[in-house]
Amino acid sequence: MWSGTPLFPEQASTMAGRVDALYFFLIAVSAFFSILIAGLIVFYAVKYRRRDPNSVGASGHGGMALEITWLVIPFVISMVIFVWGASVYFAISRPPDETINVYAVGKQWMWKFQHLDGQREINELHVPVGRPVKLIMTSEDVIHDVFVPAFRVKADVIPGRYTNLWFQPTKPGRYHLFCAEYCGTRHSGMTGEVIVMEPNDYQTWLSGGAPEGSLATTGAKLFSDLACNTCHRPDAQGRGPVLEGLFGKTITLQSGETVTIDEAYVRESILTPAAKITRGFQPIMPTFQGLVSEEQLLALVEYVKSLKTLPQMQPR
Ligand code: CUA
Repeated sequence: MWSGTPLFPEQASTMAGRVDALYFFLIAVSAFFSILIAGLIVFYAVKYRRRDPNSVGASGHGGMALEITWLVIPFVISMVIFVWGASVYFAISRPPDETINVYAVGKQWMWKFQHLDGQREINELHVPVGRPVKLIMTSEDVIHDVFVPAFRVKADVIPGRYTNLWFQPTKPGRYHLFCAEYCGTRHSGMTGEVIVMEPNDYQTWLSGGAPEGSLATTGAKLFSDLACNTCHRPDAQGRGPVLEGLFGKTITLQSGETVTIDEAYVRESILTPAAKITRGFQPIMPTFQGLVSEEQLLALVEYVKSLKTLPQMQPR
């Protein structure tokens, strides 16, 4: 209803309606009590105005019922806001299990997107309508922030870390993408577009030219170029842990702690290998800090993700 006014961007994701409903509820509660209180102040100021210069105000004593009323009503309202807000927050911060994953790298001053099929784009992001999309994001320099008003989603993009953002577009179209964290001189120019397409158009777009092959393929090439494969061998004869089937598993470290292998762990193990050594291995891996770019890291992460367990050897 508000889409015609510049203050209210279009609702173009499954989350937009939920965020707006909560937002309008907060506005309504605030407006109701502001008007009520302002009105009562004016009303009583007039009603009990000093009519005679010598008049003195009578002292009043509140009743218990009144005290309870103005404790209980605000308590109930604030709990409604809390529970409602928390449920919307959880929905926004927990991506569904099945998502289309796209890597995003922010840098001064552009957005780089990398699709798993190998497609890369700058300041444009093509996604299909009606499917949940998860951005796995990091920054090459300072903190940026992805903000797509029409989807009502926003998340910081932090150097040295992977953060996630997910959304499910509900209608095809082109939507603004902003950087919402001041990041230097041309912060205001760090904008882009999310292009939501019909599934067929998206497939066509996706298959149109990804010369270097999928992201995992790029990672595989890098894996051998950097000679990672001399130590991480699928046959368990290498000096490093076998990576096949590792992603998503929980492993035990030398310290006895356990850790689940996710994107952040793989990244850390490439940049600061000594940080979390798998139990039973020596801290002999050199760091690749400064040798691989953020995008190459993503390719390596995706390659490790793609390594499925080899067919089990049959004991004889
Ligand atoms: Cu990037 Cu502001």
